[in-house]
Amino acid sequence: MPDAASPDSFDAVVIGAGAAGLFCAGVAGQLGARVLLVDHAEKVAEKIRISGGGRCNFTNRDLDPRAPHKHFLGANPQFCRSALARYTPADFIALATRHGIPFHEKHKGQLFGDRSSDDFIRMLLAECGAGGVTHWQPCAVHDIAATGDGYALQTSRGPVQAGAVVIATGGLSIPKIGATDFGYRVAQKFGLRLAPPRPALVPLTFDGEDWAPFAQLAGLALPVRIEVGEKKERMAFDEDLLFTHRGLSGPAVLQISSYWREGQPLRIDLAPGVGLADALAQAKLRSRKLLANELAQWVPARLADAWVQQDAAWQRPVNEAGDKALQHLAQRLARWELVPTGTEGYRKAEVTAGGVDTRELSSQTMESRQPGLYFIGEVVDVTGWLGGYNFQWAWASGYACAQAL
Ligand code: FDA
Repeated sequence: MPDAASPDSFDAVVIGAGAAGLFCAGVAGQLGARVLLVDHAEKVAEKIRISGGGRCNFTNRDLDPRAPHKHFLGANPQFCRSALARYTPADFIALATRHGIPFHEKHKGQLFGDRSSDDFIRMLLAECGAGGVTHWQPCAVHDIAATGDGYALQTSRGPVQAGAVVIATGGLSIPKIGATDFGYRVAQKFGLRLAPPRPALVPLTFDGEDWAPFAQLAGLALPVRIEVGEKKERMAFDEDLLFTHRGLSGPAVLQISSYWREGQPLRIDLAPGVGLADALAQAKLRSRKLLANELAQWVPARLADAWVQQDAAWQRPVNEAGDKALQHLAQRLARWELVPTGTEGYRKAEVTAGGVDTRELSSQTMESRQPGLYFIGEVVDVTGWLGGYNFQWAWASGYACAQAL
């Protein structure tokens, strides 16, 4: 326990031992900085542990640092360009390879560990060890005050002095494993602006009564094209959709949720690439099967059965169905328009969009307008797509910051 009369002194205190904080602390330590890493949670890097279904989707090979707007959102997606260019997916792959961590690629450039997320936590802790990082966990930070030539911190393990403070406390998602608004409060305390935080990569919910006909489909997954927004604002994803008791989830919905704003309709093509209007017109000429059975060629049978319940004109053999009814059916399946009532919130959101306004930060070092105070990782208004982009931002922003400490 440090002596309260003579505070421990460090070049930098990194607050938050998650992805960004662990990585930043290790790199800075190895560059020669005396670093203290603190976290209030009992367990280290719980979010890494549960990530990627327990296998950690640690980066994405498709990331193009020259075009960050393709995979990142925020008020200024160009902000992350410099950091992403200086620490790339290839750099992190090289690190994981040096640590002998086996991994594999899933679809769309997503890289996962072969064994478990624990491999990555062990690697980051080993890198901190190699950098001589002092790690206090659990340790709460009660106060941070600027002293003119650095910062004085009051922590549950005593007072600390540091030349620099790095805030790596992440966003608000999954409070039950330690997420807090600490980073936003520190920003506000030092007069830095925030982009309002909101849940992102999150399942969407619908009005109970409107959703009742679809709630029976809970558990059903199918590939779709999903869209939101108009003209220049339009975003679309080709991914899997998952029905839930309260609404929609799955990669398609998680991705679109980051772009969805309250009141906006979603448009979903439940049979992408099929050309349903023509397919049904053809079926009418050759088949006497019930429409639901015909439809089951192109969409899952459970969906076909539930879907035709919406209109009596669809509950008959295809050869007896009217042309208009078939066109209507094709159009409804190919362009299902629906307005979510909300999201499942921070309890289920994989990330928090919004955060510390990037206009307050240097894109080279992540230092804020308040000298010696840095923000890295998810606490910043930079949000990646599903697929390893958020971890790559944590690594890259942590690396950029570490060079400056
Ligand atoms: P992170 O949340 O990792 O760490 C913040 C740390 O700060 C925590 O250890 C917390 O305890 C600590 N802290 C908070 N408040 C504090 C306080 N007041 N005092 C002290 N410490 C405090 N991304 C990806 O790229 N690939 C993936 O596979 C996944 N999978 C995934 C699954 C699930 C279920 C979730 C919830 C999220 C993901 N993500 C993901 C997102 C990814 O986990 C996330 O973007 C990064 O962990 C963000 O890294 P940070 O270091 O910024 O925050």
